Amino acid sequence: MPSTSDTRSSTRSPLAAPAPLASLLDLVPVVPVVVVDELDTAVPIARALVEGGLPVIELTLRTPVALDAIRAIAAEVPEIVLGAGTVVTPAQAREAQDAGAQFLVSPGATPALLEAMLATGLPFLPGTATVSEVLAVLEAGLSEMKFFPAEASGGAPFLKAISSPVPAARFCPTGGITAASAASYLALPNVGCVGGSWLTPADAVRAGDWARVTQLARAAADLRGA
Ligand code: 3PG
Repeated sequence: MPSTSDTRSSTRSPLAAPAPLASLLDLVPVVPVVVVDELDTAVPIARALVEGGLPVIELTLRTPVALDAIRAIAAEVPEIVLGAGTVVTPAQAREAQDAGAQFLVSPGATPALLEAMLATGLPFLPGTATVSEVLAVLEAGLSEMKFFPAEASGGAPFLKAISSPVPAARFCPTGGITAASAASYLALPNVGCVGGSWLTPADAVRAGDWARVTQLARAAADLRGA
């Protein structure tokens, strides 16, 4: 895994252009997918993930405080690679970039959404769930994508089945993946990393149990090559 200090500035301001990332799929074995309900939990979550050896976060745009959470993490945890997830409209792609996101993740990919994410100049993972969607993303010039919802869309057997006919596509499967099932995805040749929300259990976040988040992150960071 490349050092994150190679891929970004440690003094980035929220509005500065982020440094390019070599490959989103090769940063960490597990990308923490995080839903922030209370703004004041955003920075402690990010710090706990870094402490556990997962210096990447996909902050989902699913709550009213999500963009503020991105701004807070960008300002206070510059050592984390900060992404915005659940980008479902072109406007959200621009808003996430303006807030300080360094990469974008979408659950699906319409032509308009693809165009908007490309226009940001940020690296991004467009969501796919079928072979035709994978081919459409490849046609747009992108070889790295999210596979979502992974478990509901065929899981590791689906990805294994398309690795031979569509070898150019590489995936971050997300959706229904657990600490127990992650390794079966990571063993596939067309999977670089998986995404999951299990690193930030709602009860741990509510209790401010950041040590538990760090512990879960540490176990996930060790999954590479397991
Ligand atoms: C996502 O946004 O990628 C998923 O909702 C995360 O899925 P999980 O909660 O099943 O890990």
